[in-house]
Amino acid sequence: MKLIAFEVRDDEREIFGQLSAEFGWETELVEEILTLDNAERVRGYDGVTILGHSLLTPEIQDKLMEMGISCCSTRTVGYDHIDVQHARKIGLRICNSDYPPTGVADYTIMLMLMVLRHYKQALWRGQVNDYSLKGLRGRELHDLTIGVVGTGRIGKAVIQNLSGFGSKILAYDVHKDPEVAEKAQYVDLETIYRESDVISLHTPLNDSTLYMINRDTLARMKDGVVLVNCARGELMDVEALIWGIENHKIGALALDVIEGESGIYHRDRRTDILQNKNMAYLRQFPNTVMTQHLAFYTDTAVASMVRCAFEGIASFTSGQPCRTEIK
Ligand code: COI
Repeated sequence: MKLIAFEVRDDEREIFGQLSAEFGWETELVEEILTLDNAERVRGYDGVTILGHSLLTPEIQDKLMEMGISCCSTRTVGYDHIDVQHARKIGLRICNSDYPPTGVADYTIMLMLMVLRHYKQALWRGQVNDYSLKGLRGRELHDLTIGVVGTGRIGKAVIQNLSGFGSKILAYDVHKDPEVAEKAQYVDLETIYRESDVISLHTPLNDSTLYMINRDTLARMKDGVVLVNCARGELMDVEALIWGIENHKIGALALDVIEGESGIYHRDRRTDILQNKNMAYLRQFPNTVMTQHLAFYTDTAVASMVRCAFEGIASFTSGQPCRTEIK
């Protein structure tokens, strides 16, 4: 068996090495993303794995099929970078990863606490021996209503974490999970918008969730609402976020992801001329905390992401059902 992996980070190399030995496979590791320009490299392999920066467009998928590839694994949970409909049409089988949701859930709580306790400003002040308290009075999770949008594995883990803080938890999802209902009250989205002090997004990006946070939905939220996003940047209209901060509608923003991050995050860009003006502008506000899409990034998750790739491709090539197939 021969596997070719794209977007391989240095910290994944050892895990790829261990799993190649365990599965008895020959594995080629490529640092670059998969593009039309380098897609010829897949010729002669049995399977391909990518991360979220490789856009699996219809053109690339056709090229993969032309090169003899019939299955591809994304080492991510989200698969909005893959045209799944086209894959289905041409018979290219796709699977994703189901790494434990706890890392992202922990990170979500950390971001909530960071903005509720003005941690960015406290940290800035400490660097210059400014130990004043003015403006740093925070709010306690215990006293707040937290709206969780999306109660899949990650949203559910966030709710599990929050339940330890004694917050009032509102939840929204089209599918209701009985275990979630024991800790949170399922309500409609309007109620989440109207009643939440903090809103945290844990929903996939698709046609119905694109820009779900926009000028209209913001207008229906509490003044001073705190928004947290560890899911996908494009769930939020970044222009609306800027409007919300400038007009004090939004009290604080904690963003591990942002619209237009693709091609910027996960690389050292210190000497680059970055073109994402909104990202730079949002970052400088005292009440925004922004990180580079790293909520997922734990030792447990990374090991699981690579293992899922091996297991998914192994299932596809051996004709077994694949647990993580995207159908
Ligand atoms: C995902 O797994 O969907 C993520 O968002 C993490 C990815 C950027 C590696």
